[in-house]
Amino acid sequence: MLPLAPPAPTAFRQWPNVLEVSAATVNGRTMPIRKPVLDPPFHIVRASHVELNVRDLERSRAFYVDCLGLLVSDEAPDALYLRGVEERNHHSIVLRRSREADACALGFKLASEDDLDRAASWFARRNLPTAFPDIPYQGRTLRTADIFGMPLDLYVQMDQRDSMLQNYAEYRGARIQRIDHLNCFTPDVQASYDFYSEIGFRLTEYSETDGEDPQLWAVWLHRKGNVHDLAFTNGLGPRLHHVGLWTPGVLDIIHICDVMATSGYLANMERGPGRHGISNAFFLYLRDPDGHRIELFTSDYLTVDTDLEPIRWSLTDPQRQTLWGQPAPASWFEQGSGFSGVVQRQPALTAQPIVAR
Ligand SMILES: [Fe+2]
Repeated sequence: MLPLAPPAPTAFRQWPNVLEVSAATVNGRTMPIRKPVLDPPFHIVRASHVELNVRDLERSRAFYVDCLGLLVSDEAPDALYLRGVEERNHHSIVLRRSREADACALGFKLASEDDLDRAASWFARRNLPTAFPDIPYQGRTLRTADIFGMPLDLYVQMDQRDSMLQNYAEYRGARIQRIDHLNCFTPDVQASYDFYSEIGFRLTEYSETDGEDPQLWAVWLHRKGNVHDLAFTNGLGPRLHHVGLWTPGVLDIIHICDVMATSGYLANMERGPGRHGISNAFFLYLRDPDGHRIELFTSDYLTVDTDLEPIRWSLTDPQRQTLWGQPAPASWFEQGSGFSGVVQRQPALTAQPIVAR
């Protein structure tokens, strides 16, 4: 087992090319929404995995494996490698024992080794990190970061395990099938949206302020053809807001509510269950024993059409967060997981979402 060092701290850099690549600069003013880049410099397939530092690995195993039902692909004295019942990739969540409960890196699968080389060149041209550390159970992996220092692991090949999709006797807890998306706080939603748009992430839905000069509050961006692989919300960042895990259906989420409420995990249920206005997905937000946020998520929609128009939501629309109208708690807007060694910045935008009292 090769030790996995945390990503090197990355100083904040202002991305120099925002205006150069903006396809939506009108009369000298940068418009919030741009045309999608359909032929990106390299091809990202999907959000693939996340590495989380946890303080007590056995306590985390009880939560993720015994309660939520994730499968253990491998374990080491200081790490657990987990996957959902559908997944052939070796891991979609890596839990690593640490003194600090923060996030290490966000993993994205690329289409080919040539794409990985093109990605390394692209990040190098922008003076962003381009290390290739040895990562257990993964092929060649580019460890880089975005303009705010958010650590990204880009790779093509991962060790494979048997899919348990039709081994129904293996279904436990929330019967989680696969990872779906990663949601992060950013201090500048427009800058993050511009950056990830250039490398091919396509906008499906967004929230913005009202008025003559609307400001982006949140964006949902996809590569794989549903509502998102990666989302950004305005806030102290970069931080990981949550990891979205797909369940087969709504009743799997209802079932885990009953299980958690009667097995000592009532306080870990932060928000929901409910149906989002944005994405139409049914959801439940959980906090793991270290406070990392997990979303159980199902039933959003197809987004592969290249002429798909993004859906706009006003920040003040009460059905934006939850179609049934319930606002999210303050903790949902304020709390998240920092990235190891990465400096966080306050957001410039101070607009106020609807918060439960
Ligand atoms: Fe989510």
